[in-house]
Amino acid sequence: MKIVVAGTGYVGLVTGACHSEVGHYVTCVDIDQSKVEKMKKGISPIYEPGLDELLKKNHDAGRLDFTVDYKSAYKDADVVFIGVGTPEREDGSANLDYVFNVCAQIAENVEKDCLVVVKSTVPIGTNDKVEEFLQENAKNNVHIEVASNPEFLAQGTAVVDTLYAKRIVIGVESTNAENVLREVYERYNQPIVVTNRRSAEMIKYASNDFLALKISFMNEIANFCEIVGADVEDVAKGMSFDPRIGDKFLKAGIGYGGSCFPKDTKALHWLANDNGYELKTIKATIEVNQNQKYKLFRLAKQRFETLKGLKVAVLGLTFKPGTDDLREAPSIPNVRRLLDEGAEVVAYDPVGMDNFKRIFPSEIKYVNTPEETLKDADLAFIFTEWDEIKSLDLSVYANLMKTPIIFDGRNCYKITDTEKSQVEYHSVGRKAILNIK
Ligand code: UDX
Repeated sequence: MKIVVAGTGYVGLVTGACHSEVGHYVTCVDIDQSKVEKMKKGISPIYEPGLDELLKKNHDAGRLDFTVDYKSAYKDADVVFIGVGTPEREDGSANLDYVFNVCAQIAENVEKDCLVVVKSTVPIGTNDKVEEFLQENAKNNVHIEVASNPEFLAQGTAVVDTLYAKRIVIGVESTNAENVLREVYERYNQPIVVTNRRSAEMIKYASNDFLALKISFMNEIANFCEIVGADVEDVAKGMSFDPRIGDKFLKAGIGYGGSCFPKDTKALHWLANDNGYELKTIKATIEVNQNQKYKLFRLAKQRFETLKGLKVAVLGLTFKPGTDDLREAPSIPNVRRLLDEGAEVVAYDPVGMDNFKRIFPSEIKYVNTPEETLKDADLAFIFTEWDEIKSLDLSVYANLMKTPIIFDGRNCYKITDTEKSQVEYHSVGRKAILNIK
């Protein structure tokens, strides 16, 4: 079976690498020649633990190749996975241009019957349109079927999430498509859920939006905990023992970011509106998240009369640890606000600084250690709970900062530890610790 993967972003590249890891022959198509050369050498264009090794090992073993020559790649493909981006349009809807560009190339070039599998997150009904498009535009006399096979990987754990997926969802309209995909996935030995295409498309949105809802719910509970004197960490722990609730995605903070939750909540909300239905829980999820992003900034504004001229240490820039991705990271709008206020910003992130420099090339100062960031600072913001940030002893803040006032958006420290320290500590859903005068 010849598998071709279109797109070498998170979804496409991880899919290609993992399919080759379980023994399939895979060709990944990208438009960028220099990227292709790098991937052949085992250098992944994205930061993802374990991915470089997988690329190199399977390329060397002859199971995984990369090419810009999409014409030859699609010509004799048995299965083409589409893993290109579906970014958000201004109105919140999903932009499907990349998906249909790939489809046009497939239609133009396939010379034998094949199955096109849409892995990208697409609005419900898109797979039907893709199949219609392919069948109408196929240049050669071939039969092209389409299946939906949404992706559930999280950045930072993408390889493990794919190789040991909790479930594989296959949305098909024919036994042939089901059989082909079962053959692709039987080597993964994971539970397979077979549905029709529209349900598979909905499973992806409903899963992501439910997780986003859980986070926004806990963020609201956290905000209310502050008002009534409860501690959201204890509340989440107490809730988590109930298997109906579970112990995941109950962590309060400064909101969800990344390439999926913000986009997928807005896309489903938009799609529902377009169909004359209001998804009220999703609407609230989005609103709570917008508001939560600025929580630290608001707290700092309440604490200081003005932030003008103050030196602000920023620890962590990425939307979560384990990735260099800054998409929808709360750090970005907060840094912008701080600069607007006339604050002086010094930032550190273990892997996200190069990407941050593209947004703020010279407006802020970048340093190489958390300690340098904190030196002589008037206040510190924690936006990402990297291990090396979480493990910084509170005495480091007390010793290095001009005034050790911390605004922690990820609840990195135990309240009992902050109580014993010499810092002023503000976090999410917990009491403030005011240990300095
Ligand atoms: C997510 C889904 O987990 C994945 O299944 C889907 O395929 C793509 O979207 P990802 O965006 O990589 O993956 O990150 P995830 O680990 O889910 O975190 C998303 C955001 O939620 C982060 O900003 C994180 O900080 C935040 N989050 C997560 C919380 O604020 N609290 C939590 O309890 C969990």
